[in-house]
Amino acid sequence: ASEKETYRPDYHFTPAKGWMNDPNGMFYLDGEYHLFFQYYPDTTVWGPMHWGHAVSKDLVTWEELPIAIYPDSLGYIFSGSAVVDRENSSGLGTAENPPVVAIYTYHDAAGERTGASDFQTQGIAYSTDKGRTWIKYDQNPVLANPGIRDFRDPKVTQIVQADGTKEWVMTLAVQDRVQFYASPDLKSWSKTGEFGQNTGAHGGVWECPDLLKMQTPDGQEKWVLLLSINPGGPQKGSATQYFIGDFQDGVFTPDDTMIRWIDYGPDNYAGVTWANLPDTDSRTLFIGWMSNWLYGQVVPTASWRSAMTVPRELSLIDVNGVLLLKSAPAKELEKLRKDTYTVEESSKLPSQAAEIGVELDGSDAFSITLSNELGENVVISKEAGLVSIDRSQAGKSDFQEDFAAIHSAPMSWKADQLRIFLDASSIELFVNEGELVMTSLLFPNSPWKTVEFHHGINGGTLYRL
Ligand code: FRU
Repeated sequence: ASEKETYRPDYHFTPAKGWMNDPNGMFYLDGEYHLFFQYYPDTTVWGPMHWGHAVSKDLVTWEELPIAIYPDSLGYIFSGSAVVDRENSSGLGTAENPPVVAIYTYHDAAGERTGASDFQTQGIAYSTDKGRTWIKYDQNPVLANPGIRDFRDPKVTQIVQADGTKEWVMTLAVQDRVQFYASPDLKSWSKTGEFGQNTGAHGGVWECPDLLKMQTPDGQEKWVLLLSINPGGPQKGSATQYFIGDFQDGVFTPDDTMIRWIDYGPDNYAGVTWANLPDTDSRTLFIGWMSNWLYGQVVPTASWRSAMTVPRELSLIDVNGVLLLKSAPAKELEKLRKDTYTVEESSKLPSQAAEIGVELDGSDAFSITLSNELGENVVISKEAGLVSIDRSQAGKSDFQEDFAAIHSAPMSWKADQLRIFLDASSIELFVNEGELVMTSLLFPNSPWKTVEFHHGINGGTLYRL
């Protein structure tokens, strides 16, 4: 790779050039997984937002397509979602060729500068050609601003009532809470409830919600509400919390007030899930922005900034009577495996893109080091109930004072197994197939060359990806 491209990941999505943040509007249709993203093509820092676009047939190799949605007189195009309107409830397509409808936030930067507080509204656009071209609805916005500065990131999902009637539900981030709206046609919206003012982490503004219907391990229906927060995350800066509870008549009620994080590393933000997966696929598939607002705009990449995490499958697990969200690497990632090596105590890494599978020895404590010939290293461990990734000696960090740090997360139950995904500038640690996850950016001055198992490990398998 050229010097400029040193930190370009091999298998994580990055835009060819420019600035990227949140994943937006993901849906599956006719053999393609669509991924849109907050995008500013002209510089490598945040600016007037567009929706960039990429597609994949397998969730692991991505093709970037032309920009999908451009800013217009109503504002920049902020985060949001997309749904396949199978029954053409919106009337924006036809019964034979139903539309895909994107629902996003208009951010009126000029309005913001005047000191107004109603500069964020919700608009829609539709596509009848598999997401290639988007036509904005001519009566935008579809949801006006009631006078609240932070009023954004609509995530729409279809809910089927007990009597079979279908309804669109929008979850919207509104400052320190979420609001729920309902619609029959994606165009007219009425508020049904709100949640969160006195629950959960509140160290920053609430952003990018997602409302998911899921099953507990014993087959009970639960609703999970993902909620990103900036700042106020467990490792400083931005992070994504979630709530587990019920959603009925347009109102979410949590089971408890426990604070839970989807990923305990510093670098997974604004993640949401795919809509419209094939009927044969009952998974909940998630992807996040693999960065942190603390330093996302100053990381040492040259022609582009930011990558997405690997796609992850979310499911509910019961840990000693407490429900938690597990994020496992999507099974499609196994297709990336090229060569396989057995690791006893240490091994040379065959490439910067690698997966390491580790069998732990039952002692519930372990330590692994990745290092290069410059003496830089990253240490992955569990000691005294804390899982950690230490990137304090892991290469470039002078771009921001908080970057070189040890990040830890409590794990009260036993760690049996690890999967570690390495790419040019990241590590993703999945303990017990994602019962606990930590995602961390890394900028070594030379690629990782060696992996060493220190203690607590029976053996491992290394895959070149
Ligand atoms: C989250 C966020 C969203 C907003 C978008 C703007 O990272 O701040 O709330 O819609 O980014 O790019």
